[in-house]
Amino acid sequence: MNLAVIGTGNIGLVTALCFAHKGHTVFCADIDHKKIANLQKGIAPVFEPSLHDLLQAQLCKNSIRFSISAKEAVQDAEVAFVTLGTPNTTAGLPDISAIEQFLTQLPNLNPHLRKVVIRSTVPPGTNLQLTAKFPGLHLIASPEFLREGSAIQDCLYPERVIVGSDSAADLNLFREIYMSFGLHDDQFLFMDPTSAEFSKYAANIFLASRISLMNEFSRICASTGADIKKIQQVLSTDRRIGSYFLDAGIGYGGSCFPKDIQAFINYARGINEDASITQAIQNSNTNQLERYYKLIISNLPEAHEKVLAIWGLSFKPETDDVRESVSLKLVEKLRYHYRLQLYDPKANTHAADLYRDTKTISISDCAEAALTGASALLICTDWSEFKNYDLFKMKSLLKYPVVFDGRHIYDPAHMRDLGFTYHTVGRH
Ligand code: UGA
Repeated sequence: MNLAVIGTGNIGLVTALCFAHKGHTVFCADIDHKKIANLQKGIAPVFEPSLHDLLQAQLCKNSIRFSISAKEAVQDAEVAFVTLGTPNTTAGLPDISAIEQFLTQLPNLNPHLRKVVIRSTVPPGTNLQLTAKFPGLHLIASPEFLREGSAIQDCLYPERVIVGSDSAADLNLFREIYMSFGLHDDQFLFMDPTSAEFSKYAANIFLASRISLMNEFSRICASTGADIKKIQQVLSTDRRIGSYFLDAGIGYGGSCFPKDIQAFINYARGINEDASITQAIQNSNTNQLERYYKLIISNLPEAHEKVLAIWGLSFKPETDDVRESVSLKLVEKLRYHYRLQLYDPKANTHAADLYRDTKTISISDCAEAALTGASALLICTDWSEFKNYDLFKMKSLLKYPVVFDGRHIYDPAHMRDLGFTYHTVGRH
């Protein structure tokens, strides 16, 4: 089929490339001139595993095209996928104006194109509201569940595809679009658009609640002497609970959980409904970073020159995305009192953009450089490079063998045996 994808953020680009890989002809549009020029040359705007190779392959096959003109993108399209950003406004609710603007223009861009799939995250009820405003268009709510760092795998092998529509015929449309994905019939979940929109928030809030509960347990473990990893082992072997999203750490970040949780709290408030559990998740996430921060400042060695190494700047491994990164929130708390040597395997450039003129912060080219001469190491992102790091080398480079591990990547007993003073929240 001929598909248009409007908006080439992480989700739009990955979705477009996966559709192209599966045999569709995809035309993407974005207003960002530089990004489009780079994509036309085969340069991916972000780091995401396999993204570069997939982009090159689809450009060679001519199955994907990029333009700054939405008209070009939709001219031959049978269906348009909208993957435009919906950043929260100052009132803390998603701004859907970019979507509205596209829908307003669409009849002039291609009067024959009526089917529009809204893949952006929007508050429940948006589809109905937009359908009333644009009666000539047929809008389908189909939220995505891609994780940065494994977005291509998630897109090629979705656990389910949501078809939020009032017309059962759309189920067949989605079966056709996903024909080569090898999905079973029961993986297509057909429902009304409002439930589809709600399900996206429900999934993210549910996952964040698991993380926050584990973080809360880790804080209580710290006071009781119990080990959060042992608790996790017990929970994850209970099939009713399952093993995913139970890693306690320094809190969740990224462009999705914090934004969606804030939006949902405000949405519920707007309709006079109680969202106190969601509010508690948000509070718990803030508390977790605070706990880690206090652990650091109350256990730092007395050093004349207070230099700290920070490993991990992206909000999670396998991405260079630093949006709402908990690591950078920690940097903000520490930067006025310490000299910081930052390192991330992929996100150094973004950090350099942020801290170029900050005298107390330097960006290190490699993990070793960040450690050299530092009084302690703070680990904020669980990259495998850090998990597999030579601990003898670490000890020799640090001024004091002190490690604050915010992601529980090392074994406390082993670290102690090696002579480290090792701090985490919830392990002893
Ligand atoms: C999240 C959801 O997982 C996706 O399903 C959804 O499509 C996406 O948001 C979105 O709304 O577009 P993402 O933010 O890319 O995906 O990354 P996650 O893997 O969910 O991680 C979010 C944060 O939680 C990270 O900071 C990560 O370090 C943290 N986390 C995750 C934990 O602290 N513990 C865990 O056990 C898992």
